[in-house]
Amino acid sequence: MKTKLTGLALATMMAIAPSAQAGEVEVLHWWTSGGEAKSVDFLKQQLAGSGVDWVDFAVAGGGGESAMTVLKSRAISGNPPTAAQIKGPDIQDWGELGFLSSIDDVAKANNWDEILPEVVSDVMKYKGEYVAAPVNVHRVNWLWANPEVFRKAGATIPTTWDDFMVQAKKVQDAGYIALAHGGQAWQDATIFEAVVLGVGGADYYNKAFVQTDMDALNSATTKEVFETFGKLRQFIDINSPGRDWNLATSMVIKGEAGMQIMGDWAKGEFKVAGMNAGTDYVCVAAPGTSGAYTFNVDSFAFFNQSDAENTKAQKVMAKEILSNDFQRVFNLNKGSIPARLGMARTEFDSCAHDSMDAFVSSSATGGLVPSFAHGMAVSGAISGAISDSATQFFNSDDTADQGVAQLVAAIAAAK
Ligand code: GAL
Repeated sequence: MKTKLTGLALATMMAIAPSAQAGEVEVLHWWTSGGEAKSVDFLKQQLAGSGVDWVDFAVAGGGGESAMTVLKSRAISGNPPTAAQIKGPDIQDWGELGFLSSIDDVAKANNWDEILPEVVSDVMKYKGEYVAAPVNVHRVNWLWANPEVFRKAGATIPTTWDDFMVQAKKVQDAGYIALAHGGQAWQDATIFEAVVLGVGGADYYNKAFVQTDMDALNSATTKEVFETFGKLRQFIDINSPGRDWNLATSMVIKGEAGMQIMGDWAKGEFKVAGMNAGTDYVCVAAPGTSGAYTFNVDSFAFFNQSDAENTKAQKVMAKEILSNDFQRVFNLNKGSIPARLGMARTEFDSCAHDSMDAFVSSSATGGLVPSFAHGMAVSGAISGAISDSATQFFNSDDTADQGVAQLVAAIAAAK
């Protein structure tokens, strides 16, 4: 009987058998830069080790806007992936629409309530049950600097916005680009967010950009925010429009630019380039934000599946994500810190240690705030209104008064 099977039939059976047994996960993400791809690759490998096939559904575009657009059209046509990188309040929206599947049994069996900080676990649940698994905690309010460029320019790395203007001028006068930046709406919003926090502080940040209190938004502080934000226009280069964030990071890596303001996924790029934190590059909190922390938690939400094997595979993926090993290796590559509490710190670098310490201390002082530029704080409509306003202002000659008026009107319309 065996001998009667053709070579082709045998090969087909062998190709189908393992995946039919273990199931597969089709995973939507936007991790396509060097550091990001290396990180997500580890998840793929770990799942392969558990017999789960990975169908890659990568939609390029930092910040994930394009990925979210593609996800919506796939979901509307009744064909969502197994899991998708969905963050913050969006998880609730997808739950509300009835798309998400509970992984609460995995969470209970693996004590997720105990191993995750509440600020993270709360967001992963829909109606009290886990529907998503967190991979990390990114700190967004960072400034990355090339110390060699600063040395040559006779400049020091700034810790306040006033000093930033002075030091950036020195870097520029020495012939470097002071601020490496990619002119895309989400990157404009990322810098704007750092200015909001540095100029206004955490209480103002929360009132104006989390609770969207109209009085806090329509205030002298917001005007000051726009004044500072506007001053940054002079420090970016003319080729910035449309540039991807990782290309901006590589300008700092190559010593063409002095600084970048970006979340700590930038560290993944420094790492891939073989650079070491503290010596080859420096990380400091974005000006004026050392006691504060804008958090951005990446997570995978799980979609209802009709295939029982794929539901099983989904649970294997959920379990894997919170494993010690995954949280360690993934975050070493990604630049973030583990979402899981109580992990050993030794392998992590000084920037990660700063992030770990600041996460704990800022949560005690009220300085731990959700990143609005990265979908952690407000609805999509409001965060869209904020980033549209930031971009419009940054790419024009608008005055601070015009910036405030435009922002207030856009948020009021989105509410
Ligand atoms: C963020 C995401 C990060 C990072 C970045 C750039 O929104 O949370 O993981 O990869 O986009 O793509």
